[in-house]
Amino acid sequence: MIRVNAASQNLNTMAECGRAMDARETDHGDARTEDFEAHDDQRRRRGRLGVCRSCFLDRGRSAREIVHIDSAPGQGDVDRPPYSDTPVWAFNGQVPGPEIRVRQNDRVKVTVVNGLPQDTTVHWHGLRVPNAMDGVPHLTQDPVPPGGTFVYEFSVPDAGTYWYHPHERSFEQVGRGLSGAFVVEEAEPIRVDRDLVWVLDDWRLTSAAALTEDFGNPMDVNMAGRIGNTVTINGRVPESIPVRSGERLRLRLVNVANARMFALDFDGHHPQVIALDGQPIEPHAPPAGLILLAPGQRADIIIDAVGRPGERFTVSDRFYDRQHYRLVDFQYATTAPVRESPLDAPIRLPRNHLAEPDLATAIRQPIALGGGMMGMGMMGGGGMMGRMGGGGMMGMVGRMGTGEVWLINGVSMVHETRVPLFTMEHGRTYIFEMANLTAFAHPMHLHGHAFRVMTRNGLVVAPAEWRDTVLVAPQERVEIAFVADNPGDWMFHCHILEHQLGGMMSDVRVA
Ligand code: C2O
Ligand code: CU
Repeated sequence: MIRVNAASQNLNTMAECGRAMDARETDHGDARTEDFEAHDDQRRRRGRLGVCRSCFLDRGRSAREIVHIDSAPGQGDVDRPPYSDTPVWAFNGQVPGPEIRVRQNDRVKVTVVNGLPQDTTVHWHGLRVPNAMDGVPHLTQDPVPPGGTFVYEFSVPDAGTYWYHPHERSFEQVGRGLSGAFVVEEAEPIRVDRDLVWVLDDWRLTSAAALTEDFGNPMDVNMAGRIGNTVTINGRVPESIPVRSGERLRLRLVNVANARMFALDFDGHHPQVIALDGQPIEPHAPPAGLILLAPGQRADIIIDAVGRPGERFTVSDRFYDRQHYRLVDFQYATTAPVRESPLDAPIRLPRNHLAEPDLATAIRQPIALGGGMMGMGMMGGGGMMGRMGGGGMMGMVGRMGTGEVWLINGVSMVHETRVPLFTMEHGRTYIFEMANLTAFAHPMHLHGHAFRVMTRNGLVVAPAEWRDTVLVAPQERVEIAFVADNPGDWMFHCHILEHQLGGMMSDVRVA
């Protein structure tokens, strides 16, 4: 844990040493879809499958960090999988990057040193920072070249769970391991026994536990994005998380995956959602008991450990049909319970100071999400039909590139032409009427602001939900409202990083 209080912290992408990044073997290599139930069995038999024994920086070849992965000793792991080095890109040699933890209204200064072989920037996802600190190359700053340095300095007005990641070639840089949690503590935090951050990530690994090098390939760009075959919590495939009977956990879940969505089932633990995307919400049980996390999204949940000493419960992910899998187990200690009945302390968080949208005077802005290769006939994506010939879907993917696949209001942004899609008047309320005309779900992220999710398909969303990234299902209509109170040019884009690469991004101006 790193505490930054008006002090400096180096986020050096060229690190001296790597921390453990566990990986588990998959026989399917870079296959696009995985049957996680089958792998789950393997994993259960073998126990935790990887641990870092030595880390070194391969300075000779490139500025990448090399994390050595080997199977965990002492686990009775007889059929040992063929692990080898997994090259990743990392902040300070860590996957995920160092957790930045500050207090609300603190001033934060972070020096980023680029040790990568390509340009980079760092974006503070969800933090309402001044435009010049937002970390968007060619829009809010020049990219930081290899060997270059950039100093980010800003105050954090909102308490909550946020994260940081590069905004240059995100599909590759985030996919190679560059992301970290950014926690802003409330002035008076609620009472819990433990405050835990789970950075959820998804990796597409070969059978030798190396990242597949097919970043941004046309198939991923045109379809559901780079969905991998290995899910990690804080850079590990953990076997179990130790808990004590009776304790209260605050779990801060962060989905930093390029494309994977999660629907977490806590197996009888009845989580209460207390914040979404960092912003407090009236505590409630999640719909259908599942914590839904699209790429970029966060959820703060309260879990009272209701199991008995020695019991074991399975946390599973049920997002994709027929691909449910065990994420991790809660292993209860055999020691006496911390307390016999759940802690009797409030879990409601104080609201951040977000301007309330003035719906009476709001300006409505239609936003059409279009493109993609499925169902394009009905969305008038323009141009796509002409490029389709015979040969079926695979032939089509082969012919389509990665450019101008996805559209916002008919515009696909694949070049650095930073023309704002529209301009908003500083201080006024806007309602984005989003319509997803595509066959894929899109987690839409607005920089520099938090917004209220007002309606889904015309139905009011309750309890009132503030977010910076909202998932819009295929064919769904979602209205969001916010006061355009942060001047500057801000990105509005899909957080499936391959969709972003394929053009589903735009700039909107507040002036
Ligand atoms: Cu998390 Cu524009 O990004
Ligand atoms: Cu998308």
